[in-house]
Amino acid sequence: MKKIVIGITGSIAIYKTCDLISLLKKKNYDIEVIMTEHATKFINPLTFGSLIHKPILVDDFDDTGYQIKHINIVKDASCFIIVPASANIIAKIAHGLGDDALTSAFLAATCPKIIAPAMNVHMYENTATQKNIEICKSYDIHFVEPIDGPMACGYSGKGHIANLDDIVECIDYMTSSHPLKGKHILISAGPTLESIDPVRFISNHSSGKMGYALAKAARNLGGHVTLISGPVSLKIPYGVDFISIESAQDMYEAVKEFMDFQDYIIMAAAVGDYCPATYSETKIKKSDSHMFLDLQKNPDILSYIGQHKTKQTVCGFAMETDHVLENAQNKFSNKNCDLLVVNDLFEEGAGFKGDTNKVALITKHFVEYLDLMSKDDLSYRIIEKLMKIKGE
Ligand code: CTP
Repeated sequence: MKKIVIGITGSIAIYKTCDLISLLKKKNYDIEVIMTEHATKFINPLTFGSLIHKPILVDDFDDTGYQIKHINIVKDASCFIIVPASANIIAKIAHGLGDDALTSAFLAATCPKIIAPAMNVHMYENTATQKNIEICKSYDIHFVEPIDGPMACGYSGKGHIANLDDIVECIDYMTSSHPLKGKHILISAGPTLESIDPVRFISNHSSGKMGYALAKAARNLGGHVTLISGPVSLKIPYGVDFISIESAQDMYEAVKEFMDFQDYIIMAAAVGDYCPATYSETKIKKSDSHMFLDLQKNPDILSYIGQHKTKQTVCGFAMETDHVLENAQNKFSNKNCDLLVVNDLFEEGAGFKGDTNKVALITKHFVEYLDLMSKDDLSYRIIEKLMKIKGE
C-alpha cells in the first residue's frame, strides 16, 4: 500500500477533498491528513478522520504523546499533496516557512510533492502568487493547475480547483517509478468515423477503453505519451498530448506526422477498413427500396508503420471471431509488428465495451495466453512486454 499525505488548507474548495479521499481509498492508497487551523474553520477534522479512520494532524504541540508528529507523518510517504492549496500556503512554501504542522511536515518530506491551488482568480493571477508558484516549481514541486470556472466568491476565472480525476491521475503518476522517462510513446485509441453525408457515418463499437488505459499506464511509467483518439466518451488522460481525429485518413496523417521520433507505437484503435468513396455535401434522401454505398479502402496504418519503422517498437491489436490464432499470426507477420495483442470477441470478459480483457500476446517466437484481467493491469503487461522486446 502506498502512503500519501494530504495537506488541507482554508479554501471553500475543501469540500472536494472529501470526494478526493474517497477516490483515493478506492485505489488502495494509505492516507494521512494534515489540516491548517484555517481549514478547520471550514470543515471539522472529524469529517476527514471518519473518512480515513485515523486522527488528523492539526496541532504539532498538543500533548498526546512524545512523537515528533510532523516528522513521523511523512516517513515512508510516496507523495505529499496539498489540496486545496491557498495563496497563503503557496507563499509560505516558496519561502521555506515551517510555522505549523502542515508547513513543517512539507519541509520535512523528501517524497514527490504536488500542489493543487484553489482561490479567487485575482489572488491566483496576482504577481506575488505567480512568482511564488514559479519558486515552488523550481523546487520540483508539481502543480495541478486550477481551471476556469465560477467561484464561490462570485467571480469567474482561473482559480477553480482542478478536476478530481486529474488530481488522482497526477498522484498515480507521482507515486510510480518511471522506467520510460525520456521515451516517446504514440498510442491510437477508439473507433474511426467515416462520414457519408452531414448526418450519417459508418463507425464501430470501440469504446477506446483499452487505448486510454494504455496511455495512462505509459504516462505513469514516465513516458511522453501522444494519444491519437477517435470520438469516445472518455475523459482525456491527465498529462498526455492529445490529438482528436475522426476518420481513418485523419489518424493516418497524424501517425505519419508523429511517428518518426517515437520509441514505441501502439495501435489500439479500431480503424475502419472502408470509407464512402464520395461524401455527399447534402443529406442523401431515402430511395424506395435499396440503397447502395460505394466504399473504398482506407490506408492500413499499422502496415504503413511496419514498413517505415526505424527505431520504433510496434504493437498492434487484433480482434477476431474465428480462426483466432491463425488470423492473428498472419496479421503479426503481414503488418511487421514486434508484438500483437489478440482477443477473441466471443470470449467472456474480452472485447470493446467492458473494463476487462482476455488476450494472447504474439511475438516472433512465442504465444503467451494471459488470464482475464482489467484493461488497466493488461496495459502494464503489454508495456512491460514491449520494453523487454526493446531490451529496456
Ligand atoms: N489497423 C490499421 N489500419 C487499418 C485497419 C487496422 O492500422 N485500416 C490496425 C489496428 O489498429 C490493429 C490492427 O491493424 O492494431 C489489426 O486490426 P483489425 O481490425 O483486427 O484487422 P484488419 O487489418 O482490419 O483486418 P480484418 O478486419 O480483415 O480482420
